[in-house]
Amino acid sequence: MLGVCYYPEHWPESWWARDAARMRELGIAYVRIGEFAWSRYEPRRGDFHWGWLDRAMDTLANAGLKIVLGTPTATPPKWLIDEFPEIAPVDIHGQARGHGSRRHYTFSSEIWWQESRRIVEILASRYGKHEGLAGWQTDNEYGCHDTVLSWGLQDLKAFQSWLRKNYQTTDQLNEAWGNAFWSMDVQDFSEIALPHLAVTETNPAARLDFRRFHSAQVAAYDRMQCGVIREHSPGRWITHNFMGFFNEFDHWPLGEHLDLASWDSYPIGFVERFPFTEDERATWAQTSHPDIAPFHHDLYRGVGRGRFWVMEQQPGPVNWAPWNPVPKPGMVRLWTWEALAHGAEVVSYFRWRQAPFAQEQMHAGLNLPGLHELSVGGHEAADTGAELKKLGPPPKTAPAKVALVYDYEAQWYGEIQPQGADFRYYELAFRWYGALRRLGLDIDIVPPGADLRDYRLVAVPSLFHVSEAAAQAFTKTKAQILYGPRTGSKTRHYSIPEGLPPGPLRHLAGIRVREVSSLRPNLSDAVKGKVSGKAIRWREHVEATGEVLARFENGDPALAAKANHHYLACWADEKLLAGTMALVVKRAGLETVKLPEHIRLRRRGPQIFAFNYGDKPWKAPNLGQLALGKNPVPPQGVAMWKTPR
Ligand code: GAL
Repeated sequence: MLGVCYYPEHWPESWWARDAARMRELGIAYVRIGEFAWSRYEPRRGDFHWGWLDRAMDTLANAGLKIVLGTPTATPPKWLIDEFPEIAPVDIHGQARGHGSRRHYTFSSEIWWQESRRIVEILASRYGKHEGLAGWQTDNEYGCHDTVLSWGLQDLKAFQSWLRKNYQTTDQLNEAWGNAFWSMDVQDFSEIALPHLAVTETNPAARLDFRRFHSAQVAAYDRMQCGVIREHSPGRWITHNFMGFFNEFDHWPLGEHLDLASWDSYPIGFVERFPFTEDERATWAQTSHPDIAPFHHDLYRGVGRGRFWVMEQQPGPVNWAPWNPVPKPGMVRLWTWEALAHGAEVVSYFRWRQAPFAQEQMHAGLNLPGLHELSVGGHEAADTGAELKKLGPPPKTAPAKVALVYDYEAQWYGEIQPQGADFRYYELAFRWYGALRRLGLDIDIVPPGADLRDYRLVAVPSLFHVSEAAAQAFTKTKAQILYGPRTGSKTRHYSIPEGLPPGPLRHLAGIRVREVSSLRPNLSDAVKGKVSGKAIRWREHVEATGEVLARFENGDPALAAKANHHYLACWADEKLLAGTMALVVKRAGLETVKLPEHIRLRRRGPQIFAFNYGDKPWKAPNLGQLALGKNPVPPQGVAMWKTPR
């Protein structure tokens, strides 16, 4: 199904009914509103102007649209910040980040929690039972614009109490953090400082805890909003719209109290943000890289425990990347179908109409700026709406046979002491994902500790800290498992584990890591054996007690296995990664289709889709009965076959 983000407060009231009718004509079923509208319904404390929102809700509902209402907390109004300046977050240099854009609050402010509770309660009791209301979105993109961490006095106080609760005594904290080093012992929790603005590197365990503390705040804050909404809005679901390539807080615990996850998909914008090579960027500048949107669909299907939406779908050029090209014709349709193929319940475009004013005036919409006239993306949304109507509701999404374990903390561990300037956990996870997808496989992305028994193959690109739950899940599954570099290399408190890495996996994988070496861009180490290629960026010196499948030039194990547990002791270049994936996939007995770099497949129940991100048509093998598009699949084309099963 399709949806759209709409801002009635941006347009004359006389346009609303026409807009709503045109949305319906396009096949749009859902409309998200209200997430930034606070100053328009409460321009002064307690002075509420609900009339316009009442009428907007009614107009949209009367046209047959189902409404998703956003809580407005991403944009605290000016009067509130003036009244309580302490709501503002503080940057790492100690500077308050004030009013003037959005997300100007710290999760540590108690006043802010009170004010959030107040406005969410008022909103939920007013509209919670509105007949047009389908569900809620809490806030908007937690953490966007670098707003998870805040470095003010309130943050310090909240951090100290979090530590007190978690460690109980300073002796335990001193021990856990290794405070004997550089004379860092504290005798009272009030002595603890924020881990910044010191002469050189601050304690890594302190930094890790600071991130855990803020991450837990985000989840608790969201849980608070959900609790208030559920009290006043029975029977309505709640989601939050997460972002792409965003690792500043742990999304898994937040997903646990939502009814479904959603995310904001800007595939072309992300090409500029991701650390691609310049060649890769040039290749994918106008289509996006074929793994970007799918990676996130699979991730958020996981975060939403099987249920997800795309809440904001790029409809044309965006405004926020260094370069913002127009997508190639066909891409808006392709992205929409692709999200649905990955199990999205709804794909909702951002936004209905381009705003000719304010910060995002260069951001496309389904309609041209200030007009009732479809943009290129708008026409593609309409085409997709017509196709969807013809094909009927999509079948249920089945679990995949391959799981990729994704860990937010792993990104923090890697950032805190990188040891190699280009060891980026999220990039590694993305590259592993891509190598598996090039074999035509579907993937579920799961948290560490998830039950892995129903999978045939489990990929663990890296998991710095292997918790007891994660170790148990690895022990219990019969799947082939591939662990990547730095797995098990740290404890929960950022130390090297006893008996050396990979810590709790030492016996399971038959591996002991004695030394690690980061490799600058012009250094590499050749790997030969059952698979071959090069170690780049990172290479470990390991002892292996099991089978050695490939070795580095000096004879050290590069890929080793003990029973179903495989360990890859480096950051693999494309060739080595592809070979390694092919090997473990074969051992897992999975069927593959080797795909060119611009083609991806995805199954949804008995349907199998192909997506062409490239410039050349792709002749698909016999996949079943063609139900959408054509074969060969044209550039920027989509095809779907129905398989007999
Ligand atoms: C998202 C955000 C929207 C809008 C959009 C522009 O990050 O949720 O409000 O700013 O980006 O691409």
